[in-house]
Amino acid sequence: MSHIKLNLESLSKFVGKAEIEGIGSEIAAAREVLMSGNGAGNDFLGWVDLPTRTDESLVERVEQEAERLAKMSETVVVIGIGGSYLGTRAVVEALATNDRKKNGANIVYAGHTMDPDYYALLLKRLDKEDYSVVVISKSGTTTEPAIAFRLIRQHLEKKYGKEDAKKRIAVVTDERKGALHSIAGAEGLPQFVIPDNVGGRFSVLTPVGLLPIAAAGYDIRNLLKGARKMQKECAEAKRMEESPVMTYAAIRNILYRKGYKIEVLTSFKYGLRYFSEWWKQLYGESEGKEGKGILPCSMNFTTDLHSLGQYMQEGERILFETMMEVKESTREYTVPNDAENIDGLNYIAEKTMTYVNNNALNGTRKAHYDGGVPVIGMEIERIDEEVLGEMIYMFEYACAVSGYTLGVNPFNQPGVEAYKTNMFRLLGKPGF
Ligand code: PA5
Repeated sequence: MSHIKLNLESLSKFVGKAEIEGIGSEIAAAREVLMSGNGAGNDFLGWVDLPTRTDESLVERVEQEAERLAKMSETVVVIGIGGSYLGTRAVVEALATNDRKKNGANIVYAGHTMDPDYYALLLKRLDKEDYSVVVISKSGTTTEPAIAFRLIRQHLEKKYGKEDAKKRIAVVTDERKGALHSIAGAEGLPQFVIPDNVGGRFSVLTPVGLLPIAAAGYDIRNLLKGARKMQKECAEAKRMEESPVMTYAAIRNILYRKGYKIEVLTSFKYGLRYFSEWWKQLYGESEGKEGKGILPCSMNFTTDLHSLGQYMQEGERILFETMMEVKESTREYTVPNDAENIDGLNYIAEKTMTYVNNNALNGTRKAHYDGGVPVIGMEIERIDEEVLGEMIYMFEYACAVSGYTLGVNPFNQPGVEAYKTNMFRLLGKPGF
């Protein structure tokens, strides 16, 4: 059994049991399209059995390279954007908040922005720290990471000399093509492959995520173990009622048809804020096309209860909430007792912060439900590598089933080309 289950208490007045059953045949059909490989985008289904297909030799090679990089560096710079960046950050930030790092390097990011002010700060930091680089791009030609790689490689060569700099770079890219593949070949850099049939936003369990996550000191075997468990559950649950994953896909589609066009992924765990960023890319790029799709947004509570929480409570009733409810914390504090009690907090003195946070969660769930927001509760036992593996696979699978139910190809992203074409024309790139 996985460590994730749905809590539908705060949904009942918006979506009834009969409605969920009613859409069951559509969800089952969408799932069948996915599993039979007969649907649109079926050349990008390599993620479906990726957890069980990932063999010991690849895991070992990734672990060895991660250890090599981490040993010689205080910091590893991960260069990438979109699917070549967000999965790593989702996992690393979720685990870093839990303080579970063992013998790993600090991870910093590049290639996800073109703001020179960001690079000024980063390079200043890298002046002082020993570092190595993992550069990730499936196409090997994406502008943002390519510029970042030029900048950082120049810095690396200046700092360590051309030959030693090479020992501090690992590349994750296509097996056969792309500029990054050519550079790696010409310079003799260690290369890891992103399989052709795994799209960027579904690639976190390939070396795209595994290498930097291992370099950060986290256990990629347990990450894969969780994903395998969820893969098995998804493969075996033919009927919707047996599967929280398909039930989630069903409810999203029912709510969308009722006019709830925005899904807000929320959590009271600070470390999950980048998990939400990864989720937004996964769902936004997979479903937002042909004039259709739920807009994926996120809020981090209680922080955003003092900000967007106002809109959530009383704004236009077009949004629903998927609330990740994490039960356990890794560490704990209690609210100190204070004899003078000037701030009036003694009513919760000696209570744990988890107790207070969980009550905030229960209070928020009820307030949102009462205020007209359907809430899909997602109960998650704890945050560690295994559970994150389950969560990653679960959201990927639900995304594919949802997308097919919506009637789109969940595996392409034609819309991301529009800005590139304009930018290249403005920059005078040959051929544009
Ligand atoms: O999901 C996707 O395909 C995209 O977000 C890509 O991951 C992103 O554009 C980066 O592409 P690449 O890995 O080719 O540099």
